[in-house]
Parts: sequence; C-alpha cells; structure tokens
Amino acid sequence: MIAAVISLTGHDFIDVADLDRKQLRQILDRAHAIKAGRWSERPLGGRHIAMLFQKPSHRTRVSFEVGIARLGGSTTTLTENDVQLGVRESVSDAARVLDRYVDGVVARLRSHEDLVRLADASEKPVINGLTDRSHPCQVLADLMTIEEVRGDLRAQHVVYIGDGNNIATSLIEASALSGFALTVISPPGHQPPASVLERARSIDSGTHTVALTDDITNLDGATAIYTDVWTSMGQEREQQARRKAFMRYQVNQAVMDMAPNAVFMHCLPAHRGEEVTDEVIDGPRSVVFQQAGNRLYAQMALMSEIFGEGVARAQGAGQ
Ligand code: CP
Ligand code: NVA
Repeated sequence: MIAAVISLTGHDFIDVADLDRKQLRQILDRAHAIKAGRWSERPLGGRHIAMLFQKPSHRTRVSFEVGIARLGGSTTTLTENDVQLGVRESVSDAARVLDRYVDGVVARLRSHEDLVRLADASEKPVINGLTDRSHPCQVLADLMTIEEVRGDLRAQHVVYIGDGNNIATSLIEASALSGFALTVISPPGHQPPASVLERARSIDSGTHTVALTDDITNLDGATAIYTDVWTSMGQEREQQARRKAFMRYQVNQAVMDMAPNAVFMHCLPAHRGEEVTDEVIDGPRSVVFQQAGNRLYAQMALMSEIFGEGVARAQGAGQ
C-alpha cells in the first residue's frame, strides 16, 4: 500500500519544518518535472498573489513573479514604501485587508514573528520569502540543485560555513527532514540558536546528523560547501565587526582544496572578497547560478501544491 501524503492545499509555508518528508519529496519531484518540461499545468489561473517586501530582493521577487505568471496567475508586488507594515498599519490589519483582495501572499519580512503574525491573521496561504530566522524557498531550490549535481540527498554531506542565521536554519531543518549529513561551521557567537536545533530534532528523520563547530578545517567527506554573506540585509551597521569575526571563515581555493569532492553553493547575492573569492564562485565546482535558476522551478512546484489540487492521496491509505 502506498502511504498517504497530506495535502498542502491552502496551507502556509513558513519553514521547511512545516513539511513532512513525503511533502518535501513531492515538491522536489514536481520541481524536477517542471524543469524537464514534463509538467505544465496552470493551477493559478484566475488567482492573484500579493508579494510584500520589507527588504531588497532580486531572485525571490523575479522568480516568484515569473513562476506565478507561468502557473497562470498574476501578482502585485509591494515594497517597503507601500504598505509600511507596522508603521502605517499593524501586520494583522494589513493581512485582513489583503485577504479580501488576493488568493495568497509571499512575504519577505524583517522579523519572523511578524511573518507568523501575518500568517495567523490571514485566511489565505502565506509563503515565507525570507525572514531573519529562515529562508525555506531558497533551500527547496538548493535541495533540487544538490539532487541534480550529486544525486540522493541521503548520501550527501553538506558543510555550511558562515553565519548561523536564516540559510543555516533552513538547511538544518532540511537535513533533519531529508537525512543528509550537515556540518555548520560558524565563528563563536554566530552559531545557530538552540531553538532551531530543537525544532529540527522534532522533525528528525532518524538518519541525519548535524554537527556544529568553529573549526573551518572540518570538511571531511564534504559533497557540498555552502556559504552566505557575513553581513545580512539589515545588519549593515555591524559590517566592520562582522568582517573581523568572520575573517577566518572565507571560502577560498585553499578551503575547496581540502574538500576535493565538494561543489560550491551560495544563495546569492555574494559579497565577493568577503565570504567567497572570485576564484571559487567562478570556478568549475560552483553551482550558484544553477541554484538561483532553480528558485523558479522549486517555487512553482511549491505553489502548485499550495494553490492547486493538492498532493494525490493514495488509495486505501485510510484518509
Ligand atoms: N537568494 C535570494 O533570496 O536572493 P534575493 O535576496 O535577491 O531575493
Ligand atoms: N543571509 C542573507 C540571505 C540573502 C538571501 C540575508 O538575510 O541577507
């Protein structure tokens, strides 16, 4: 008997940990199918999605706008100066208004708590387009990319070198769900918070391991080395201090040479010369533009589940 998969239709997507393993598998399979031209339905026909940005964006904004159009829907994109969440009106009031106009919301907000507040106040699905805590849509595209270039996720050892914030959170949750080994290497004081590790443990597939260290030579068996900016959006005033704290954590050729089987990953935008050198990001093992491209397919797959008919339920599975 094939096990049932609980439908994502109408649900929010706030974190990777919101998914179960089968839902994640379903999204990744559909993402690969869309990219290969094997799936081309238009489940967003006649639907309108609002996009709310409190921070700048290139990839997230464009890939969602294009993806929504390809799925048959339309978008309104609101930037920091438009709604002014929490300034002109409360997050909850804005959500209750948007609910009356649109069929779903993609939001990039400064505070994760505000995103949860928005989702709680909205009856329509809300998708996380990045917060200070997590970036789940990015990591869906990353998993798709790893499968393309390295194969079975369970056979991977991803080493993330950098700040233990949003990308690290979503990688930790993805590791717990899909069973790849993950090492997070961060300078002291910048490691992922205990609450993130705790939540990941609660969705643990039972096969993964997450190791935390501040030792950048801990690269044994790495199949992917992933880094992110040292200074995230909104932290610009800390840039000098961060440069100092992260100086020894640059992914340069010497680091890549210690991991001969690893591809190089980055969510972009990159601060070249800080967390990564030109030689590595432009080098033969870099898959960063493939990751960026896959945002489109991973998000189309996600939206097809949230706004479409939902995941097929297997017969006889006791639904
Ligand atoms: N990786 C990513 O989310 O890029 P943007 O900030 O340009 O959307
Ligand atoms: N950590 C980065 C990710 C950008 C996609 C930031 O929050 O700015």
